[in-house]
Amino acid sequence: MNILVGEPDACVRKRPMHTFWRALPLLTALFSSAAGAPASSAVKPEGLAATPPMGWNSWNWFGRKVTDADIRQAADIMVSSGMRDAGYTYVNIDDAWEGQRDAQGVLHANEKFPDMKALADYVHGQGLKLGIYSSPGALTCAKFEGSYGHEQQDADLYASWGIDFLKYDLCGFRTNMAQEAPNDKAKQVKMMREAYEKMHQALLKTGRPILYSLCQYGHDSVWQWAPEVGAHLWRTGDDINANFKSVALIARGQAGLAKYAGPGHWNDPDMLEVGNGDLTLDENRTHMSLWAILAAPLLAGNNLTKLTPEITAILTNRAMLAIDQDPLGRQGDRIFAEGPIEIWSRPLANGDVALALVNFGQDSFLRDISLHLHEAGAAPGWKAYDVWEGKSLGPIKDHLEMMLKRHSTLLLRLSR
Ligand code: GLA
Repeated sequence: MNILVGEPDACVRKRPMHTFWRALPLLTALFSSAAGAPASSAVKPEGLAATPPMGWNSWNWFGRKVTDADIRQAADIMVSSGMRDAGYTYVNIDDAWEGQRDAQGVLHANEKFPDMKALADYVHGQGLKLGIYSSPGALTCAKFEGSYGHEQQDADLYASWGIDFLKYDLCGFRTNMAQEAPNDKAKQVKMMREAYEKMHQALLKTGRPILYSLCQYGHDSVWQWAPEVGAHLWRTGDDINANFKSVALIARGQAGLAKYAGPGHWNDPDMLEVGNGDLTLDENRTHMSLWAILAAPLLAGNNLTKLTPEITAILTNRAMLAIDQDPLGRQGDRIFAEGPIEIWSRPLANGDVALALVNFGQDSFLRDISLHLHEAGAAPGWKAYDVWEGKSLGPIKDHLEMMLKRHSTLLLRLSR
């Protein structure tokens, strides 16, 4: 078999939908009702984030400039582009919405957000949910007002507006940690955990189901304790940037973290840069493939007003999304690495296996390669479906003569 991966125009070709993907919502429903909630001690009773959260966030593209109008437009385009129907639900305002506190300590949005409640109503009216951002510190990363000393007041405010998601970003709280516990790492970590738990309790007290996203850049083995402080997702690394080096560095840094994720609590390698910067088609697909194998939250971070058919096709590829959103909720991991070539795989609820063969290198790769099917939990003779080409490859052999372009990925769904 000779497979060529990375044809530039492949994703815009129209192909009939594979029957499996057409049946997927039904299979998912059947699985859920047959098995009940997936077993995990950390699935919280409200049942939020049973699969990795999906949506859009303002930071990667708009940064500090984001306005009410940008958020409304993002919501509109999530509907018109089909992203909402593909599962993208949360529209998240990141940093730079905050204004000043009044004499009662009540925080007001700044002039770019004249009426948060009206904005939330608008977003909800589009069948979407609204997210917001704050910090346990006095200041956020972009030096806006944080929640320090006003945790319950802020949580109540979010609930009164109708907020559905909070990203809580350590930033300014590092100053408190350094001042109160200089040179005492253990105490600093304790302070941080307590600060996250404080907001967790404040959110619970509002009575509103609000998804809780921790952002502290993956320090201090956050994956080991984040579920205990109520996190539905937690960043596992530094900020992502819109270039392949950043995407590859973050993705490869996720090896070994799979056991910490599951329904209700997810490792978050950061928001998507798909469609941003100078990422090529192959790089965008590799980014998406890895995030799907990693059961990562899918928060698009691109300028939706410039959405091209290629980027829409990548973000809404149903076969890729079915891997990311698989109801078993088991994150994938790396099963093979040899220089720039890596294989990552993920077990799926119906017994299928997702397998990504990635070329992180600068050059095209051409040679015989073992797919390591047994290590992936599959076997020679299983049927392969090529996710990005949108076609069945028939029974697969373990050894393929492989042409894999630089920075490209062969993403397969393997079934018995
Ligand atoms: C940090 C976070 C980013 C973003 C900015 C906002 O850098 O990691 O994701 O939220 O703060 O200031």
